Amino acid sequence: MLRLSRSIVSQQEANAVSRVLLKDGYLGMGNEVQAFETELADFVGTSHESVICVNSGTAALHLAVQAVLNPGDEILVQSLTYVASFQAISAVGVVPIACEVLPDSLTIDLDDAKQRLTARTKAIMPVHYASNPGDLDAIYAFAKEHNLRVIEDAAHAFGCTYQNHKIGSFGDIICFSFDGIKNITSGEGGAVVTTDSIVAEKVKDARLLGVEKDTQKRFSNERSWEFDVTQQGYRYHLSNVFAAIGRVQLKRFPTEFAPKRIALAKVYRTRLAKISGIQLLSTDLGAIIPHIQPILVLQGQRDRLRQFLVKQGIQTGIHYKPNHLLTYYGGGKTQLPITEQLYNELLSLPLHPGLTIDDINQVCDVINRFFNEN
Ligand SMILES: Cc1ncc(COP(=O)(O)O)c(C=O)c1O
Repeated sequence: MLRLSRSIVSQQEANAVSRVLLKDGYLGMGNEVQAFETELADFVGTSHESVICVNSGTAALHLAVQAVLNPGDEILVQSLTYVASFQAISAVGVVPIACEVLPDSLTIDLDDAKQRLTARTKAIMPVHYASNPGDLDAIYAFAKEHNLRVIEDAAHAFGCTYQNHKIGSFGDIICFSFDGIKNITSGEGGAVVTTDSIVAEKVKDARLLGVEKDTQKRFSNERSWEFDVTQQGYRYHLSNVFAAIGRVQLKRFPTEFAPKRIALAKVYRTRLAKISGIQLLSTDLGAIIPHIQPILVLQGQRDRLRQFLVKQGIQTGIHYKPNHLLTYYGGGKTQLPITEQLYNELLSLPLHPGLTIDDINQVCDVINRFFNEN
């Protein structure tokens, strides 16, 4: 079975975990998390105090939303994203306003978003779908014009660049995910990146149950006993065990994971471009490190192709069921015809650094066979 995605971990990660377990013996949030934050900041190209690690990408988004918005505020977000984006928003009592995507990149359609602005709109959440940050210049100009905060859902986009600048090195608030199958993993984990020091302080406290300035204490192996709490907080801090995995992954990323993902995606693009029943999304493999490999299958053939691939032992996925169709988010009361059409055509093919070029060629051979026979 060729898997859609999987974690790629080695003895190096296992050694790092056993160092924390057996030598350091401190499994909570401490020096290992501090080191991971510093190394992430250096990698991304931002100041050390701008990176705040948490225990998932969803937690990163949740704390980012809580830091800048209030219950009843509205945020513009594409419907075509993982439910995590929507859940992080509604957890704060903020209303996610589902928007259309541009059909060639599946990033937010600003013309559509503009129609959905109200007096309550306070932010926009662009989702870097399949690692593509879209037209961030236009998004930030739109935000400036309408006085909105920008929370980038960069769960897919760790290590990617926009106009030669790494995602996270510029912008308002950027959220990464390090769950098991992302560009790098810490087992589970995520990070908020922001140079807004007020937001950074709020997020740092909120990840530790709202206990003020606990981060500094924990990084010097102390605890706060006398403290104040001024906001709702959560147990969202990262553990030293997970940070140790993330640190190894970050080292492996530039030389192993990034080039491998790009090389595999290039084979897909070259081979699938020749098939008329398939449409590729626009992307720039010189700038992004692809986390997933979605394609559009035209003429109502998606489900048949999917079954054909499964029969040949090739796992596929659908990224994603649009959120506006979910009961909790209106159950389709809002109509987004472009998104709904794309949802019927989307198919994600296997992509992870454990695959070989031969594996990708095999997937493409099966797809070719399907279209020749149909
Ligand atoms: C677009 C998007 N946003 C947010 C998340 C949430 O990240 P995590 O799984 O680390 O909570 C994911 C993870 O799959 C994602 O794909």
